[in-house]
Amino acid sequence: MRTPLVIGNWKMHGNLARNRMLFTSLTLGLRDLQQVDIAICVPFPYLGQAQLLLSGTNIAWGAQNVSQFEEGAFTGSISAEMVADFECRFAIIGHSERRALSHESDQSAANRFVQTLHAGVTPVFCVGETGAERDAGLAKSVVGKQMRTLLDSLVSENLALAGRLGAVFSYEPVWAIGTGKHASPAEAQEMHAFIRNLIAARAPEFATASRILYGGSVNAGNAASIFAMPDIDGGLVGRSSLDADSFRQVCEAAQQPMRASAAL
Ligand code: 13P
Repeated sequence: MRTPLVIGNWKMHGNLARNRMLFTSLTLGLRDLQQVDIAICVPFPYLGQAQLLLSGTNIAWGAQNVSQFEEGAFTGSISAEMVADFECRFAIIGHSERRALSHESDQSAANRFVQTLHAGVTPVFCVGETGAERDAGLAKSVVGKQMRTLLDSLVSENLALAGRLGAVFSYEPVWAIGTGKHASPAEAQEMHAFIRNLIAARAPEFATASRILYGGSVNAGNAASIFAMPDIDGGLVGRSSLDADSFRQVCEAAQQPMRASAAL
């Protein structure tokens, strides 16, 4: 049985004062949620603040990217080892905003995934198609290529590490991110099953254990119906993670009993 997981992605929002208030509301508001794993991925400068304020709570923290290189002359880049120094549990890898705005390729996302594993941090590997690609009937071929580039880059030692660290995948259709338009539960389920099958073709036990999150306009109103799908193990949440009440409702929707009853 996979424990549901909800990860907030704050993207480029926040400052020390606002974060402090949000961390306080989140730690108080989420402290009684036992049947869901919860994490927040903050901008790099606030990893220390997250470590300070979330240590000892039921909320883990993480980064939103890492370099594809181990170390060296890469001005402005942050390595996986550096985020590990702040006890990050997770690092988001291959987010579509990185792929589109910073031209990160499928191969560089795969390299970042491997760096993250080697630093002992759990990667949250994002895949997803644009609206134009979906309209052209290319959704599965785009997601398939993103996944295969990753899976082909993993030698068996990396696969074992990914299994041990509980590597996470996230289907985030680009057309659903920040638009208020989410994939229907059936559309999302179809892609999640496709992703799980691709993993299974390479490593069956890893596929069964891997959590695959859905991301793209998840909110308090739609979370329960999306999370009720059998291959959807929780959410990667942008906007709704910036409001403690909304985020709590999304986390509640991911808890197993509610999931089970929603599926009936
Ligand atoms: P929204 O929830 O704001 O659509 O963002 C989704 C996302 O990109 C999470 O990584």
